[in-house]
Amino acid sequence: MDNSIREEYLNIVATVREHVAEQLEFGILESETSETETQHPYASLDLPALNTDAQSCVKCGLHAGRTTVVFGVGNPNADLMFVGEAPGADEDKQGEPFVGRAGKLLTDIIKAMKLTREDVYIANVLKCRPPGNRNPAPDEVETCSPYLLRQITLIQPKIIVALGSFAAQMLLDTKTGITALRGEFREFALAQQDDNAPVIMPTYHPAYLLRNPNAKRDVWEDMQQVMALLDNK
Ligand code: URA
Repeated sequence: MDNSIREEYLNIVATVREHVAEQLEFGILESETSETETQHPYASLDLPALNTDAQSCVKCGLHAGRTTVVFGVGNPNADLMFVGEAPGADEDKQGEPFVGRAGKLLTDIIKAMKLTREDVYIANVLKCRPPGNRNPAPDEVETCSPYLLRQITLIQPKIIVALGSFAAQMLLDTKTGITALRGEFREFALAQQDDNAPVIMPTYHPAYLLRNPNAKRDVWEDMQQVMALLDNK
C-alpha cells in the first residue's frame, strides 16, 4: 500500500472508531461483548464444558478444602430443577448433590411427586463444601453463582424449587427469610436475556425438615402446587 492510501485508510479507521465509541456512549449502539462478558461469564460453555471448567475452579477459598466439586446431576432437559445451598460432607466425598440424610429425604419428596432423580436436575448455589458445613459467605455466593445461572440458562427448567433461604434469597435477589417466601410461585429475579424464565417455588430445605418434621406438610403443599403447574405448562 502506498503511503498516502495507507494514511487515508488509517484516517477512515480512526473516524469509524470514534463514531462507534460515540454511539456506544449515547446508547445508540449496544456493546454485545461487554454485555456478554458482564452478564454471562460462561456464555460459550455447554453443560459438559461448564462442568469441566467448574472441576478446576479456584476462584474462591473453598477449593482448598474440597474433595470434589459437586456440579449437579440429573436430566439436562429437565422441566423441574431443585437448588440447594452447598455440598455437605457426604456430597463432598461422592461428588453428587443431596446424597446424605437430607438428600435421602429430597429423593423421597421427588418420588412422592411421581418423579425420579433422573427426571429432574439437582444442583446447589455453591459447588464446593464450606468447611464444617458453615453458611455460605456472601463473596462465595457471588463468585460461584454464575455457574448455577449458566446451568439454568442451559437446562431451561420451567420450575425451580429453591430449597431453603440461601437458594431462595439468591434466585429471588432478596433478603427475606424462607418462612415468608415459601408457598408461592415467585419471579426469577436473575433471569438472563436468553432464558425462557422459570418460576421459582421457595420451600423449606430438607435438612430443616429433619429437625422439624411438622414442616413436611407445608413442603408437600408446595410440591402439590409444583406438580399442578408442571401438568399445565
Ligand atoms: N444440603 C444442600 O444444600 N445441598 C446438598 O447437596 C446437600 C445438603
